Formats: sequence, structure tokens, C-alpha cells
Amino acid sequence: TIAVLDFGSQYTQIIARRIRECEAYSRLYPYGTSAEQLRADGVIGIILSGGPSSVFAKNAPLPDPKIFELGVPVLGICYGVQLMGRLLGGAVAKSKEREYGHGTLSIAKPGRLFNKLPRKLRVWNSHGDKLTALPPGFAAIGTTENSPYAVIEDRARNFYGIQFHPEVFHSERGSDVLRNFLLNVCGATQDWTTKDFIKHAVSDIRRTVGKSRVLLGLSGGVDSSVAAALLHRAIGKQLTCVFVDNGLLRAGEREAVEALYGRHFKIDLRVVDASALFLRRLKGVSEPEQKRKIIGRTFVEVFEKSLKQIGKGVDYLAQGTLYPDVIESVAIDNNPAALIKSHHNVGGLPERMKLKLLEPLRELFKDEVRAVGEALGLPREVVWRHPFPGPGLGVRVLGEVTRDKLEVLRQADTILLEEMRKSGWYAKVWQAFCVFLPVKSVGVIGDERNYSWVIAVRVVESIDAMTADWTRLPYDLLQHISNRITNEVRDVSRVVLDISSKPPATIEWE
Ligand code: XMP
Repeated sequence: TIAVLDFGSQYTQIIARRIRECEAYSRLYPYGTSAEQLRADGVIGIILSGGPSSVFAKNAPLPDPKIFELGVPVLGICYGVQLMGRLLGGAVAKSKEREYGHGTLSIAKPGRLFNKLPRKLRVWNSHGDKLTALPPGFAAIGTTENSPYAVIEDRARNFYGIQFHPEVFHSERGSDVLRNFLLNVCGATQDWTTKDFIKHAVSDIRRTVGKSRVLLGLSGGVDSSVAAALLHRAIGKQLTCVFVDNGLLRAGEREAVEALYGRHFKIDLRVVDASALFLRRLKGVSEPEQKRKIIGRTFVEVFEKSLKQIGKGVDYLAQGTLYPDVIESVAIDNNPAALIKSHHNVGGLPERMKLKLLEPLRELFKDEVRAVGEALGLPREVVWRHPFPGPGLGVRVLGEVTRDKLEVLRQADTILLEEMRKSGWYAKVWQAFCVFLPVKSVGVIGDERNYSWVIAVRVVESIDAMTADWTRLPYDLLQHISNRITNEVRDVSRVVLDISSKPPATIEWE
């Protein structure tokens, strides 16, 4: 086991992720975990994470000093290196200014950490205090513009310190530095796979839950689907899934959920048909924010009511929260910890219902969740689904939402998705969907004039939905999609293509 002692950095989970990428096994520990505990757990290496605190702060989080006597390699990152400076007899200077952003690292002696890596690397800094004198036994092996002690090592004791953040994507070859630490310095074995994650998660869930019942709001999206499959593997009939049909779903969505979770996995699935209520509340409302608020509020209300009905003996509410949901933003600010917030999809519900929250995926990133889903036997269509907004088609029928418009949109959207899948483009794009435009245009079918609705096609590429660009689909494919929609969907006379990027547009139209 590699122990990651968590001093509160928003990057701690990214360190853990990098370790998983090396297929080595790691555990996050609270920063104050005793050396004795770490020894008992068979720890072969320790990483001290960064953190928002200053080593000079009154309540600065400190590790058990005995961890330096365990005889295992230690790597301090950022705050971690300042701790080493402080606890092992070096000197640290207090600084009001944070050094933040890119720097250039020059490596004098590669040693085991920078083995086979370039001598100059662009690295990402985010720290206030910094090391000003080396602790005894240490030598500096790398420098940046602002720090003569950017990388330090004590070869005899296998202690290493890195002032910048090797774990973040912006640090060039940073993951190779961590890999060198894990494999060359700690001698970690590479045998930790998705199957092991599932095995551990299953026993964790069983231990936590005991004989209690667990409720999960299932949306059919990737995260809640994987959470459902994982929880079901762990606790079987103690899990109840609630799927709310809000009347704003795409064609066949509810049936697919019933078939997969109800019949295939044999999960105790309760489908709540609240479509009439949602559509009634949306009647006459055309302002997008108001629509979103109504849909969100109604969802919480319906979910809470069904909880009361079926929630006897339920102690846990499970959610498919992922790590990127846990941090609000990866941007670094003066105080990274201040950015960290807990993410509640069902806003305040667990507190009101006195339920404990269970989030078995909260340490994982999206691609890892997909791998877990595949290993649990979820079909590829589920695991690789595009994102779909909570308010559903409610924000894709522009203006007032009605049953008729929803039906037109569903038919057009089904055709688009069919053609995207058939041509192999579905898997290459971030999202592909139709938008119902509440304008009528003139068309002609046979000899007849027809005056009916317009459908917009929106297909985008993106890495994280923060920015997006429209996808250059082949003209032939676009023509085929347009032909099918205008021919097969009654009441559509025209198809237009959205060629806006984000920013300045957004991915959704409302
Ligand atoms: P925008 O339209 O803001 O969308 O560029 C960015 C991404 O978020 C999705 N989206 C939502 N997801 N609830 C969600 O769960 C929502 O209310 C919501 N609104 C937008 C959108 O589909 C895109 O992937």
C-alpha cells in the first residue's frame, strides 16, 4: 500500500488517481494517522499531499513525526515538502504572496525520481511558504526560477520533496515523476485493477451499510447507473432505486431503464410517473430559468414524497457523485480548500430526511467510472452515453413546453441519434441532440404547401463542457439526417444546423 496523507489539497484525489493509473494500490489517510497504523497496514511508501495551510499557522495540520522513522520512502509535495523542512531540521520562509502558475524546472541530478526524464520541464506551482534551507542529509536536485530547492532528496533515507505539483496535468511529465517514485523508489507492484476497486468498494459498502436499506435516485445517466450496479452487487435487495419519469425524457428512455435495472439486474426499481404533474406546472411558462427552477423543485418534491412512501427503514441515500463534482473548480485560488464544496444533486434532501449520504464513486473520475461500469456488466450504450441535462427535453423545447412539441422533438432526436450511432459519429462527439424551435416555416411536400416547425441539430465536441466547438459532420450525413427528419416527422418543415461554439454560446439552448 502507498499511503497518501491528506493535508487538504484539492489535488489529493488527483495524486490518488495518478497512483491508480500506475496500477499500484494506494489509500488516502487523514494527515494525522499514526505511524503505527501505517506500519500495521503494510505501507511501503508515503506521500504527503499539499494543503491550503501554512506550516506557520496556529493549527497547521501535522503528521505523526514517527512516520519518518518507519524506514519507508516519503515524498512531500508542496505543503508536504514544507512540513519536511520544518520537521526534519531545515528552514521555511513565510510568504504572503503565493507563487502560482507555470515555472521551468531544471534538473541537476536526475536520481531515481527524474530518471530518463528531460533536464528541463514546465511545471505547475501553487504555494505560499517555501523552503529556504535544506534539512540535514538532503541535497537539492532541481531548481526553478523562484526556488533553489524545487526538488530535494535524501538518498540514504529515500526522502524526496517536490515544491511544485507533479500530479496536475499542467506539470509536464509529472505523472512519470510519480511513477518513478512508486515503482523505482517504493518498489510498488502493478496489480491494482478496476476489479480490485470493485472488490474493495463492495466490502466497504457492506461494512458501512450493515443491514440498512439504501435508496438511490436513478436517472439513467452514467454516474447513477454505475452507482446502482455497484450497490446492487454489494447489497442486492437492500437497495431500492427510484426513477422519476418527469415527462421530459427522450423516446424509450423509461422503458430502457425498466428493462435493464428491473428485469436484467433484478434491482428493486420503483418508477414514479410524475409526467402529468411536471407538464401541468410548466404550462404557460416560457422563461428558461423559471422552467429550470420549476423542474428542479418538482423533482425534489416528487422524490421526497416517494421517499416517504417507500423509505421505511431506509438509512442511506446513495448518489453517483464523482470526484469532479466534489470540487467546484480545478482553478487554483488563494485558498484551494475554500473552493471545495460538497455536491448535492438533490439539494438538502439528505439533511431534511435525516438520511446518511453514501457516495461510492466519489473518489473516481469519469473515465474510471466508465471502466467500473463495464466491469460490472453494464452495456456499452449506458456506459458511453452522452451527458443529458437534469431538466431534460424541458430545456430543449424552447419557450413553453407542451406534449405535442415534446413528441415532435422526441421523434427528431431519435432519428439524429440513430444516424449518429450508425455512422460511428456518436462515440466521437461530446453531445448530439435536437432542439425544438417554436417558429414555423414554409415548406412544400409533393404539391402541398406546409407550414410547420423547425428543428435545430446541435452536435459538439468538448473535453469538459466548459468550452465546446461544433462538430464538422460530413455533409452527406447531415443531408441524410435532415431528409429523414423532414420526411418522417410530421409537422417539421425545416432542419437547421447550430454552428456556434461555447463560448459565446452554451451547449444547450436554454
Ligand atoms: P451548457 O449548456 O451550460 O451545458 O453549455 C454544459 C453541460 O451541462 C449540461 N447541462 C446540465 N446538466 N443539469 C445537468 O445535470 C442541468 O440543469 C444542465 N444544464 C446543462 C449540458 O447538457 C452540457 O453537457
